Amino acid sequence: MQASRRSLFDLRRSSMQHQPYQTRPARETRGTGVQGHCPCRKDFTLKNVLCLAPMAGITDWPMRVLCYRMGADYACSEMVSAIGFMCAKPHNDTYRRLLEVHPEEKNTAVQLFGSDPVVMGEAAHRLTELGRFTMMDINMGCPARKVVSGGDGSALLLDPDKAYKIMEIVKRNTWLPCTIKTRLGFDDEHMTAIDLCRAAESLNYAWVAIHGRTRAQQYSGTANYQAIGELKAQLKIPVIANGDVFAPEDAIRIQQETGADGIMIGRGCMGNPWLFRTARQALEGKPIEKETLLDRIETAMLQAQWMVDFKGERLGIVEMRKHVGHYISGLRGATTIRRQVNFMLTLDEMRDLLETMREAALQEEEA
Ligand SMILES: Cc1cc2nc3c(=O)[nH]c(=O)nc-3n(C[C@H](O)[C@H](O)[C@H](O)COP(=O)(O)O)c2cc1C
Repeated sequence: MQASRRSLFDLRRSSMQHQPYQTRPARETRGTGVQGHCPCRKDFTLKNVLCLAPMAGITDWPMRVLCYRMGADYACSEMVSAIGFMCAKPHNDTYRRLLEVHPEEKNTAVQLFGSDPVVMGEAAHRLTELGRFTMMDINMGCPARKVVSGGDGSALLLDPDKAYKIMEIVKRNTWLPCTIKTRLGFDDEHMTAIDLCRAAESLNYAWVAIHGRTRAQQYSGTANYQAIGELKAQLKIPVIANGDVFAPEDAIRIQQETGADGIMIGRGCMGNPWLFRTARQALEGKPIEKETLLDRIETAMLQAQWMVDFKGERLGIVEMRKHVGHYISGLRGATTIRRQVNFMLTLDEMRDLLETMREAALQEEEA
């Protein structure tokens, strides 16, 4: 453990030196329970809160900042492996990138996954010390085989006692408000979300986010809002409802059918950060301001620039390809454009294509 502690300390220092991004002074809280001030924004209330869901490979800071600009109240990092983080070598680029927070971010949680309570506690402590995040989320819902086979993510739905232990030790090792994100159950025979939510409630967690599917369903079928509503009715802890919000009307439906305190949006905002604005307008009964084609192209250009600044040209552009694919979805010729984009390696290539599309969109607007 000594070696990994040293490497982690170096990682922390090196990432702070390397990046001038948001830092808050670290405090020693280990083993003493939640204490100190809550770094959550003072104006943050749990009423119709709109959250950006954690999505591995998607919710890096460029994506999060775009969603905040469009009205998200909260965002979550991509999931971070507790053991991977603890053992990371100094200057490990993967973790440096995963843990980078932009000054414009309002209220960003770090999401931890793992199933060893001791390692989860240590990781929670170290991540808190970074001073970048305002909340700490535990992943209890990831359905990926490689995560579940290690007993992590949604596998914790099969072992509520272990899930409780993890929640307890994480809470004891951070002063940040803690949350869990889970699914309705592992499968139809193990609908154990209620056990995890009650554990979170008893440990004074800030909220539970529930995706309305089981692990066995992965992403098939539709999210079961009624089941989320039934959980909500049995709990005192705030519930954030998640699943299948792709349009402003879905936000109304999930809110009405679950009675949840907030809504978490994942896939729907890929290539569409405006969904936060339009969902809020729908929830407040205001006229809906849809984005224009020009908005889409210009936002794709901005995100591409940020991705390159953040990740370097090659990685930034390769990762940006999927985002461009989402921004252009539904446009005439999208399939051909997507094929072109999937071979791009430089910002200039991507910018040229988007610039051509931008000019065409401007002409269309003028016509
Ligand atoms: C590409 C992708 C990556 C995801 N990564 C994570 C993750 O790291 N942690 C997590 O808790 N959920 C993850 N999820 C699940 C989402 O947070 C969310 O629960 C799910 O997509 C359902 O919400 P939606 O219908 O609004 O997309 C991921 C989903 C997708 C599509």
